[in-house]
Amino acid sequence: MPVPTFWRRSEVSIAAMSFRRKTILGIALIEAALLLILVGTGLSFMHQSNEQELIKRATTTATLFATTTKNAVLATDLASLESFVHEVMKNSGLVYARVRDMDGMVLAQAGDTAALTRPFTADQEVDDATDGVLDTYAEIRVAGTTYGRVELGLSIREIYEALATARQWVTVIAVMEMGLVAMFSFVLGTWLTRQLRSLKQAAEQVAGGDLGFQVPVKGRDELAQTAKAFNNMSHRLRHFNDELEQRVAQRTEELVQTQQQLQIDLERRRKMGEALRQEKQQQRELIRKLEQAHNQLLQSEKLASIGQLAAGVAHEINNPVGYISSNLGTLEEYQQDLFQVLDVYESLEPLLQYEDGALQRIHEIKQAVRLDHLRQDVRDLLEESQQGVTRVRQIVEDLKDFSHTDEGEWAQADLHQGLESTLNIVSNEIKYKAEMIKEYGELPLVFCQAPQLNQVFMNLLVNAAQAIEVHGVITLRTGSEQDWVWVEISDTGQGIAPEHLKHIFDPFFTTKPVGSGTGLGLSLSYGIVEAHGGRIDVDSKLGKGTRFRVWLPVRQGTEDRREAVG
Ligand SMILES: Nc1ncnc2c1ncn2[C@@H]1O[C@H](COP(=O)(O)OP(=O)(O)O)[C@@H](O)[C@H]1O
Ligand SMILES: [Mg+2]
Repeated sequence: MPVPTFWRRSEVSIAAMSFRRKTILGIALIEAALLLILVGTGLSFMHQSNEQELIKRATTTATLFATTTKNAVLATDLASLESFVHEVMKNSGLVYARVRDMDGMVLAQAGDTAALTRPFTADQEVDDATDGVLDTYAEIRVAGTTYGRVELGLSIREIYEALATARQWVTVIAVMEMGLVAMFSFVLGTWLTRQLRSLKQAAEQVAGGDLGFQVPVKGRDELAQTAKAFNNMSHRLRHFNDELEQRVAQRTEELVQTQQQLQIDLERRRKMGEALRQEKQQQRELIRKLEQAHNQLLQSEKLASIGQLAAGVAHEINNPVGYISSNLGTLEEYQQDLFQVLDVYESLEPLLQYEDGALQRIHEIKQAVRLDHLRQDVRDLLEESQQGVTRVRQIVEDLKDFSHTDEGEWAQADLHQGLESTLNIVSNEIKYKAEMIKEYGELPLVFCQAPQLNQVFMNLLVNAAQAIEVHGVITLRTGSEQDWVWVEISDTGQGIAPEHLKHIFDPFFTTKPVGSGTGLGLSLSYGIVEAHGGRIDVDSKLGKGTRFRVWLPVRQGTEDRREAVG
């Protein structure tokens, strides 16, 4: 069931009230309630007792007055009665006094005229005295016989005045009391709240991070105990915090160590990976070398078989080429002789004029065979044949060289010297085609077959010159690296097409027009360099140029040398 709004609001406002105000308010309320009850009951009690007192006094006074006046009434002594009446009126609070005989006749009276003129009605209670006078009477009796009565009127104003005074006093005292209590509760509230405030400040201090903060403890009351509990809590908080920090530091340290370990592991893994990669690289290199070796083996197998073939062919061709060449020489001489004879005949032609028909026939034959043309053509044909034979001889010579790459003298040689003499031989081929640049390095003496190597250098130089179409540069470089020397011949020629590159060392591979290349130069060179335990590297860019680098070992392995020499 929902709580009514006004109640909730007041609840909230009470909750929002300061502790001191609540204390003051609470005490004031209690005080006011208590005072209300006290004053109420006190005043009502006072009222009652005053009324009873008045009635009692009225009765007593009336009885006493009756006794006093008894004799005078019996004797009808009016003078005494008069004096008694006046005497009794001296009592304070009496409004009137009257004495009547048994018939109700007034014997004597005194007091307030207005009160005396009113008809007498006895009041039983103070409340009955509506005219402000309590009317009472007492009968004068002697031995059971009534001789008369006294009537008295007592003012009730006095008790009301007394009550008013009393109420005034009570009010003053109550106000003073409330003032004192308010002051006291203010002081108490202030004192309590001060303690509480210091506790609150301390709590804020702790909340702000000042763990272990202590509040001063005074006395042994509940507040002091609360302060003590607070101090204890603060102290323990600090303790826990310290412990926590220590633990965090420890954990951090552990984490750092773990991280370092991880780092180390990672580094080790990385190194392992690196090593593996290197190993893989080495394997790849090894595979590449194996492939190369395999190719070289194939190449040398090919070369060896072709070498044998070439040796046989060369031998077989050499003979006929020999006699064709010498026959051609002889034929040229004969042809010259024959033309000489013909010249003589021609000079004698005029003498044949008269011999009819003979000259005619000679002219006809001369025209039929086109003698003038024939004279020239025979010369050309012979010259061409001679050139052809020379070429065949050259090829045969190359073939012979090719089949005898592992023959020759082994000795320590200066490669620069060999290069220079080779350059002299090929200078004719080169000088119109290219500028020669020489960049010689330091070279040790190399154990080799010098003439064979010169053959290699020559082939490379001639190829370089032939690769240059109009004019270019040929660069000759040398150098050494540990136990190896190298000779490099590079040109600015047409370059080698990638698809040709793997064939250039094949015997009879040539891209040159028929008649100008045999295709044996590089395969021959390959064989020679291989016989020296070296290798040839090629690097070429189509349209830019080509670079051949011949690597040779400075020394030959003992067995190789023995084998080579033997
Ligand atoms: N320096 C070079 N520049 C361009 N091509 C070359 C070069 N050297 C060799 N070659 C190519 O290699 C082929 C084989 O050369 P080689 O064995 O000397 O035979 P040939 O010179 O008789 O053709 C040549 O026909 C040519 O295509
Ligand atoms: Mg060549």
